Amino acid sequence: MEESKIDRPIGVFDSGVGGLTVLDAVRQALPHEDLVYLGDTARVPYGNRTPQTIVRYATSCARQLVNRHVKAIVIACNTASAHALDALNEAFDVPVFGVIEPASRMAVDVSKSKCIGIIGTRATIASQAYTRAIQAIDPNAHVYGLACPLFVPLVEEGWAETDVARLVVRKYLEDLIALSNGHEMDTLILGCTHYPVLKSLIQETLASLDRHMVLCDCAQATAKSLVEHLKDRHLLRQTSESGWSDYLVTDDPQQFSAVGRSFMHEPPVNVSHIDIV
Ligand code: DGL
Repeated sequence: MEESKIDRPIGVFDSGVGGLTVLDAVRQALPHEDLVYLGDTARVPYGNRTPQTIVRYATSCARQLVNRHVKAIVIACNTASAHALDALNEAFDVPVFGVIEPASRMAVDVSKSKCIGIIGTRATIASQAYTRAIQAIDPNAHVYGLACPLFVPLVEEGWAETDVARLVVRKYLEDLIALSNGHEMDTLILGCTHYPVLKSLIQETLASLDRHMVLCDCAQATAKSLVEHLKDRHLLRQTSESGWSDYLVTDDPQQFSAVGRSFMHEPPVNVSHIDIV
């Protein structure tokens, strides 16, 4: 691999601010890499769209990143990973990584009862992508999925710590527990990159319902798997310099910075607006 290619940035995209949870984990794991984040905030949420629309949106985001000469792309979005990973890997000449396989592996590793819950967007749950990924690793695992379509707007609005969020989280978790029909669900995948923003609230609510589950957040698992893949492909920068991070959004940069600031180690700065057609 010639040096100039190694020195290219890594592209990361999501429909909105949620993918910042993945970007943050990637930044912690790879301090020397340059990162370009694209939040398609004008078209969020993806999670209620048809598979065709999700593939079209994801392809247009990936194209923007490829035009900026990235060396790899991380789909920091479960919905787009569930529906568009194969299409993007076929369409583009750079390696494209999704979040579902790493999160599934993490869940199977930590679960003792092999009874795993997954919460995500409507499109992610409907795709059954998690069930397939988990059962490919452990065919005897039981998977219970629940769509939580109100979580993404709560996070995008910066309402993660309000009483409204408290009520909504409780209602969804009660529904999820009812689904498992008495089986001991000991692991819960936060199958949407917006959900780690609600992690403490989910944890508190589970405790108040007397349920104890390990929460698997795809951000850490994805960052770890990305490091391994880039290392294997000799794509990691060889430098002691800190990498830069650039942010692109398709709607209001200020709203994005304000919401993203509350849950990142380094708040997003230099956020620019781009149009995607
Ligand atoms: N954060 C994304 C995910 O992981 C998408 C949420 C949405 O746009 O509906 O699924």
